[in-house]
Amino acid sequence: MSETLFVNAEAEPLAEQDPNWWRQAAVYQIYPRSFADGNGDGIGDLAGIISRVPYLEALGVDAVWLSPFYPSALADGGYDVDDYRDVDPKIGTLEQFDVMTRALHDAGIKLIVDIVPNHSSNRHVWFREALASPKGSPARGRYIFRDGVGPDGTEPPSDWTSIFGGSAWEPVGDGQFYLHLFAPEQPDFNWDNPEVREDFLTTLRFWADRGVDGFRVDVAHGLAKKLTDDPLPTHADLELAEAVRDGAHMLWDRDEVHDIYTQWRAVLNEYDPPRTAVAEAWVHASRRPRYASPDGLGQAFNFDLLQAGFDAAEFRRIIGDNLELAARSGSSTTWVFSNHDVVRHATRYGLPRHAGGDTTASQEWLRQGGNEAVLDRALGLRRARAAILLMLALPGSAYLYQGEELGLHEVADIPDSARQDPTFFRNAGVEIGRDGCRVPLPWTASGPSLGFGDGAPHLPQPAWYADHAVEAQTADGTSTLSLYREALALRRRLQGDEELAWIDSGDPRVLHFRRPGGWHSVTNFGSAPIPLPAGSVVISSAPLTEQQLPGNATAWLVE
Ligand code: GLC
Ligand code: CA
Repeated sequence: MSETLFVNAEAEPLAEQDPNWWRQAAVYQIYPRSFADGNGDGIGDLAGIISRVPYLEALGVDAVWLSPFYPSALADGGYDVDDYRDVDPKIGTLEQFDVMTRALHDAGIKLIVDIVPNHSSNRHVWFREALASPKGSPARGRYIFRDGVGPDGTEPPSDWTSIFGGSAWEPVGDGQFYLHLFAPEQPDFNWDNPEVREDFLTTLRFWADRGVDGFRVDVAHGLAKKLTDDPLPTHADLELAEAVRDGAHMLWDRDEVHDIYTQWRAVLNEYDPPRTAVAEAWVHASRRPRYASPDGLGQAFNFDLLQAGFDAAEFRRIIGDNLELAARSGSSTTWVFSNHDVVRHATRYGLPRHAGGDTTASQEWLRQGGNEAVLDRALGLRRARAAILLMLALPGSAYLYQGEELGLHEVADIPDSARQDPTFFRNAGVEIGRDGCRVPLPWTASGPSLGFGDGAPHLPQPAWYADHAVEAQTADGTSTLSLYREALALRRRLQGDEELAWIDSGDPRVLHFRRPGGWHSVTNFGSAPIPLPAGSVVISSAPLTEQQLPGNATAWLVE
C-alpha cells in the first residue's frame, strides 16, 4: 500500500527563515544524558547527539528540544542548573554545543533549549554567595529566605511541602530557611529582584546569539510569587486557593508573571527570525492563552491529551477546546503524549481502562510494582501508533519524546539502587519517580549498552529493550520507527493551513477530520473494524483489510 507512495514522499524542510516555522513543527525532545553516549562513560552527551543528527534528519523532525545540558550535580536530572551559560563538562563543551547547533541547522533542524528560571541549583555561584552572606544581605535577596518560626525559631516558616515531597523549606543553620518548591538542591529565585531578571535576559541573549532558535521555559507559571508577611498560610489553605487559581495564588500562575515574559518577548524579538518560546505552565486551560500570546512567550504546552485515556469522546473534546484556546491567543497549540516526566504512553494505553490511560493512574500502577500481568504491551503499542497518526494530522506543534518512535514502554523494574529521581528518594520509596522513561535508548540489538555507548548505561536497560533497537526497526517497513518516518514525511507534504473540519461518522468510537487540501485522518477507538470513508489511504497504523479500518487504528486518506 504505502511503499510506492513513499518513493516520492521526499519533503522539503520547513523554509529556513520562516518566522512561523514553529506553528506546525514536529519537535523531538532529547533528554541528553539518555540519548547517545559518545565517549563510553555511560552518560549521553553532545558528541552522541552530533553523531545522531543523520538519524534525526531521516526521522524527519523539524526541531529538537534539548532538555538541560548545563553544569549540574544532577539532583534533578539537570533541572538543577549550576551555570546557565555553559555546558556540563560531563557531557560536552560550548564548542561542541556550537558544532551540534550547526549540524542540526545544516540538516534543516531547529534547536530549542530548555531554560530553568524558577530555581537554580544550590551550587550556583549566587546561591553559594547567599549562604556565605548574612541574613538580610543583597546576596540572600536573590532567593527566598525567611526566618524560622516556633518558640526557638527552629521550625520552618510554614508547613508547605515541595513537589518532590518533604518540606519546601531548608534550614541554613543561622535561623533562616530558604524556599524550594522542588528539591532542596533547587532553591527558588526571587523574581522581584532586578538582578535576577537582568541575568536571565543575558542568558536568553547568550544562547540566541549562539544560534538557538527557541526556548522551552521550565515551570513558567511559578516565577512570580508573593509571600505574605508572617504568618504564612498553611499548606491546606494553599491547596484550597489552588482550586481558584485566578491570578492571585501566592505561588502559582500569578498575573505579574506576564510582566516577566513581556520583557523576554522584547529580547526574543531582537532576533531575526524572532526566537520562539514555549511555556511549561500547569495552569487552568482558560489561563493558558496569556502564556501563549504573541506578546508573551508565544506558545504554551497543553498536557490534556497526555492526561487523557485512549477515548474518542475525550480526544474530541480536548482537541476542540485547545484549537479554540490557541485561536484565542493567536498562537498554535501543542500536542504531547510523552515527555521525561510521565509514564510512556505505549504503557499508559496498555493498562486496563480502570487503571487509566492517564498519567496519575499509571503512576499508581508503577507504585504497585508495575505488574506485567495487567499490562497489555501489544495493545498499548497498537494504540500509541494510532494516537501518533491522529496527533500528527492535527494543526499545531507535535512534541515527540525520544524513544516513543521506537514504541518503547516504560521500564517499570529499575532496581532501587539504580534509581536517580528525587521524587523516589524524597518519598521514602513510595513514589517510584520518572526514571522509567529516561532509560538510555537502544540503538543496536546487542553491545554493552545496546549501541547507546561503549560502557554500562547510567540507568540499566531491560532485556526487552533490544527488540526495539533502531537498527532492527530501520530495516523493517512495518516497525514503529518506519511509521514515524513515513508519517512525518507525509505530514510535511500534506500540511497546509491550520484549519480542521470534523466529519461526523455517526459512530461514537470514530474520530474523523479533514485538513485543507483534502487530507483526512480517521481513528477507530473501538475494537471492531469499521468501513473507511472514500479516498486513497496513504498510511495506516495497522494493516487494513479491504476498505476496513481495524480497531485501535488510524488511517490517513487523501481525496
Ligand atoms: C519541570 C521539568 C521536570 C523538573 C521540574 C523542576 O516540570 O519538566 O523534569 O523536575 O520542572 O525543574
Ligand atoms: Ca558520555
